[in-house]
Amino acid sequence: MKAKMTVNKSFIIDKVDKRLYGTFVEHLGRCVYEGIYEPGHKTADNKGFRGDVKDLVKELNTTFIRYPGGNFVSGYNWEDGIGPAGDRPKRLDLAWKTLETNEVGLHEFIGWANDIGAETNMAVNLGTRGIEEARNILEYCNHKSGTYWSDLRRKNGAEEPFNLKTWCLGNEMDGPWQMGAKTAEEYGRIAAEAAKLMKLTDERIELVACGSSFNKMPTFASWEATVLEHTYEHIDYLSLHSYYANRTNDIKSYLAESISMDNFIKSVVAICDYVKAKKHSKKTVNLSFDEWNVWYHSNTQDDKIREEEPWSVSPPILEDVYNFEDALLVGCLLITLLKNCDRVKIACLAQLVNVIAPIMTEKGGAAWRQTTFYPFKHAANLGHGTVLRSNIECPSYECETFSDVPFIETVAVNNEDCNELIVFAVNRSLDKAMELEIDAQGFDLSGTSSFTELCGYDLKAVNTKDKTQVIPREKTGVKINSGTVLAELSPLSWNVIRLGMK
Ligand code: AHR
Repeated sequence: MKAKMTVNKSFIIDKVDKRLYGTFVEHLGRCVYEGIYEPGHKTADNKGFRGDVKDLVKELNTTFIRYPGGNFVSGYNWEDGIGPAGDRPKRLDLAWKTLETNEVGLHEFIGWANDIGAETNMAVNLGTRGIEEARNILEYCNHKSGTYWSDLRRKNGAEEPFNLKTWCLGNEMDGPWQMGAKTAEEYGRIAAEAAKLMKLTDERIELVACGSSFNKMPTFASWEATVLEHTYEHIDYLSLHSYYANRTNDIKSYLAESISMDNFIKSVVAICDYVKAKKHSKKTVNLSFDEWNVWYHSNTQDDKIREEEPWSVSPPILEDVYNFEDALLVGCLLITLLKNCDRVKIACLAQLVNVIAPIMTEKGGAAWRQTTFYPFKHAANLGHGTVLRSNIECPSYECETFSDVPFIETVAVNNEDCNELIVFAVNRSLDKAMELEIDAQGFDLSGTSSFTELCGYDLKAVNTKDKTQVIPREKTGVKINSGTVLAELSPLSWNVIRLGMK
């Protein structure tokens, strides 16, 4: 089979916001405790954070980390996590039916995120708490000194403000499972007032309001419209969450799920722009896709753990073990986010360690890369710069959920910093290689290139602590003839083509 991609250096979608490669650390399961933090582990630093995990997180190159939840944040008292560790209260976390020790709190987390070079995206509790808490935590984090909260931060060891830029106004507030769930009217009002107070406290910040928990919620679309009616002039982004699954073992439909993501993004953009028009506003509200991933492998096992062992500290819940087909879908989803980078400015793979995560750990033992680690790592390391508007001619297929699914999902990024044109591509064909011709107009390609692929594995193959089976390989065979590039994409493959420029 053959496909042709035409790109032109001058035809651009937008610059990639570096927050597109965000991830998520929630106080959930073994994400924090036994994940990023395990005092006593042989690689732990003097604050108790695992060095082996830090190294993997740095390799992944996540730029931005949402914290501390998730459902957890809707019942969280952030003040429980500041001050001397020995004085911190233990609390029931009703979201996940666990016991929170508060050993890791705001200072520890932000310090860790700074160490790995990522920005912290803090969420405030608009479930069990409200606008007072929202402005207090912001004053604590971002105000220099001379007030109750800023001086308390200094007393607790952080002389300089944390200066966190991006804040979430609660989490999934439409969900009946959420502590303090609200109607769209109720949430819209409290989010607008919280935003108002927060921007009065620090006008430099950017705010994310909650969209629907996912697009199958009965209130989807009307929730977004109502929330925006209330918050439009106070906030900067609206959130989207979506998790994908291959429950019927239908690979053709599963790999087409990035089309659902694309449709979801387009719908939310339309709602934002509808409210913009209705309000005759000059301002554009963009999107924060701040929870996305595959999540289903661990569902049954989690129900059992939560029923049989409630209120335990860091139980092994949401520990999806990802296989090769999941890595291919994650590749398609990353490409979709890039293709929408004019409106999706922030995105967070949920989550980072152990909990539906690209990195797994064993208590007292190893840390390893899941299959999905690789496409994220490639995109987060190389997919910076300007995304090009491309024209793709490609054969397509039918499946249970979609018609006309292109066999190739692909995007080209002009990475000005490394002076390379980067092409990410997934070949969805089960059995046919695809000869991809790239007509790269306006680029003076130097002929240097590299080609990395993840392919050739059983769709259900996984990585474990003892065996990394699914791993990318370098490939040869990219042909460059002036502005035209030819590359063969293997069936069922994730591909990264790096084309050097003169
Ligand atoms: O990421 C896991 C959970 O999924 C989050 O806590 C919640 O926001 C979502 O439902």
